[in-house]
Amino acid sequence: MASELIAALESLEQEARTAIAAASNTAELEAVRIHLLGRKEGRLTALVRGLGNVEPADRPAVGATANRVKQIISTLLDERVAELTAPAATAQGVDLTLPGRSAWRGARHPVTVVVDEICAIFRALGFTRVRGPEAETDWYNFEALNTPLDHPAADAHDTFYLAPGLLLRSHTSPVQIRTMQAYQPPIRVVVPGMVYRRDPFDASHAPAFEQIEGLAVDEGVSFVDLKATLAEFAHRFFGPEAEVRFRPSFFPFTEPSAEVDVSCLICSGRGCSVCKGSGWLEIMGAGMVHPRVFENAGYDSERYTGFAFGMGPARIAMLRYRIPDIRLLYESDVRFLEQFA
Ligand code: PHE
Repeated sequence: MASELIAALESLEQEARTAIAAASNTAELEAVRIHLLGRKEGRLTALVRGLGNVEPADRPAVGATANRVKQIISTLLDERVAELTAPAATAQGVDLTLPGRSAWRGARHPVTVVVDEICAIFRALGFTRVRGPEAETDWYNFEALNTPLDHPAADAHDTFYLAPGLLLRSHTSPVQIRTMQAYQPPIRVVVPGMVYRRDPFDASHAPAFEQIEGLAVDEGVSFVDLKATLAEFAHRFFGPEAEVRFRPSFFPFTEPSAEVDVSCLICSGRGCSVCKGSGWLEIMGAGMVHPRVFENAGYDSERYTGFAFGMGPARIAMLRYRIPDIRLLYESDVRFLEQFA
């Protein structure tokens, strides 16, 4: 009797599997449920009633089978209800409730961000962005810029020579000469690009780094234009509250020459570790184009005057983003670089 009952329960399980899978809507499924598990007429209920005729010793085994079959049928019914009521797509294996996959967003290198911003400001002031070669002759890099080849800056010790007379430019100033050779005044250009120096690769030096050169030439350009243009640039880039200071300096290709400082971005001029207590940050060199530079480029130095400037966007990026070590800008660590917009 016991084994017959167990066999009947097991065959009910098989029957239930087929019937539940075949139900094609919730109403059909409900009918299947009542047929199988209904309290009065249900097939399982009927079988369980037979338990009374089983030898007491066999009852636990039969009862356990009955419970297991009931459990299985209930689970199958629940799963089928979920299938029948879920959105259609889920049945095809697509879960519409998963969070969306966000698009990958790339980053610009922090120096590129700064170069683009600086050039955009100068563009609004009338300066066109131009480029020049990174492999230069020593004439463009030094002599045309009024820097004799026996000047310390032209020493092989400081410069990467590719061949006699050919070197990796040590600044973007040679593009001043190339621009003046190619165009007549008025000229207003900015020149971003890489420059190379035999500097150690440490926290504050890199042997290759960016510069942005600027050149404005016309009749009647004066130091007032230089000061006004560079102050306007500093206000637009660093903020209207930034103060600008011009200190006398020397470059062979400008006369007079100046270093341009901006009040410290970090402490607003009060003095901190970044500005080494001075309240000022040096951001560029500048000056009035030396008459000999005009002559070397083929311009009439009696007729034209102009100003030039050169700055290091990597240094400016370090100040703006408080990057403590210049090597971070050149080691291509994506985890570091992807922070920048
Ligand atoms: N070429 C100079 C340098 O690399 C910067 C500079 C450019 C200074 C133009 C004056 C005018 O240090």
